[in-house]
Amino acid sequence: MNRPSTSIHGQWSSRWAFILAATGSAVGLGNIWKFPYITGENGGGAFVLVYLLCIACIGLPLMMAEVMIGRRGRQNPVNTIKSISKEEKKSPHWKFIAWIGLLAGFIILSYYSVIAGQAIAYVFRSFAGVFEGVTPDGAHNIYATLTSDPERLLAWHTVFIVCTMTVVARGVTGGLEKLVTFIMPALVAILLILVGFAANTGDYFTQGVEFLFSPDFSKITPEGVLTAMGHAFFTLSLGMGAIMVYGSYLPKNTSILKVSITIAIADTVIALLAGMAIFPLVFANGLSIGAGPGLIFETLPIAFGHMAGGALFGGMFFLLLVFAAWSSAISLIEPAIAWLVENKQVSRRRASVTAGFAVWLLGLLTVFSYNIGQHWILFGKTMFELLDYLTANIMLPLGGLFIAIFAGWTMSKKSTQEELAITSPIVYHGWLILIRYIAPAAVIIIFLNAIGLLG
Ligand code: TRP
Repeated sequence: MNRPSTSIHGQWSSRWAFILAATGSAVGLGNIWKFPYITGENGGGAFVLVYLLCIACIGLPLMMAEVMIGRRGRQNPVNTIKSISKEEKKSPHWKFIAWIGLLAGFIILSYYSVIAGQAIAYVFRSFAGVFEGVTPDGAHNIYATLTSDPERLLAWHTVFIVCTMTVVARGVTGGLEKLVTFIMPALVAILLILVGFAANTGDYFTQGVEFLFSPDFSKITPEGVLTAMGHAFFTLSLGMGAIMVYGSYLPKNTSILKVSITIAIADTVIALLAGMAIFPLVFANGLSIGAGPGLIFETLPIAFGHMAGGALFGGMFFLLLVFAAWSSAISLIEPAIAWLVENKQVSRRRASVTAGFAVWLLGLLTVFSYNIGQHWILFGKTMFELLDYLTANIMLPLGGLFIAIFAGWTMSKKSTQEELAITSPIVYHGWLILIRYIAPAAVIIIFLNAIGLLG
């Protein structure tokens, strides 16, 4: 199998289109929904620091590796890795890493869609003025009422999957860039308004910001470190081939270094803004910092309920969150669709319908884990927690580990140098050290530490 010079699925119209699409993939529920609640559960500052270190030392070099591999192979992750292995005269079995990725994306989308569905429900509640003057207890009850009703969760989950698969069926290089050009600036604007609102809480703002940024290492556990690392992968869409597939649609002469840095910074800034908007509210209203996955749904309505124009801002916020989740969801399933189209010779439409249905079905586990299936516990976790843990804390870091080894050791220096085209030898060698030694060692140490092997 030889490497094609362009992808059969099309190409981004420009470097910007790629940056936008990849940022659209990276920025999503991970930044606004997940980052705050796991930071709350894991004690704040120290957790954030570990997360930032993971972004810089593992996430960034790995993102460059994924884009590089994708652009070199120009096919779905499975075939890309197979053809690069062949060219480097290495074992074709490396393609199994792409398989872990396809599966991870599939599982993540199944629960991602249910959470995005909750955000859709909040768009309507917000515009309808349901949050006006809401108390912390009231906000809690609104969320509990939504999640305890399997039918509603199922309905919104269905809506979200249908929207996602509709875009995927049409091919992602078309409309995605336009969507993202509009949502990213708007999302940042509303987050800034929310941070402004939080800043008015005086001392609570300081308390919230300190919680986020002043590390207290006694609060972090080995399991917390694993969660921080897993989230670095999750939030940058790494470890499963999503960025690889987007890289395969990237025009030849684009600086992989620059685009990767841009995406990582944008993603991190948005997560930190979300944290700065949410934690002061948690303290100001005496809410539980470890509230878990419901955190944004129980805190932000309080802000929207007490600010001028809150119903409108709230509605817009949740709408933007849905769009951000949408542009992420597309990238979760695109590797599998590209594989179906290339290897199984089905049309994009058929592939989207089939994959969409399967993801929808798996999503039922998450829908039910909020209500009738609350008590289906395995390894001490609900079905949703289990799927989340399995993907974010295990599969993505494992996928990332293998991708790093593949890029650093299996591919020759000649190929990586040629594909990355970094002019400064220092920067190139810095990348090589990170991808060959630092990133793999960090992943392995954090894994071993979490299972207690490093005592
Ligand atoms: N990064 C997205 C978020 O933060 C989620 C996501 C999209 C993702 N594509 C991915 C996570 C691929 C892991 C792998 O919401």
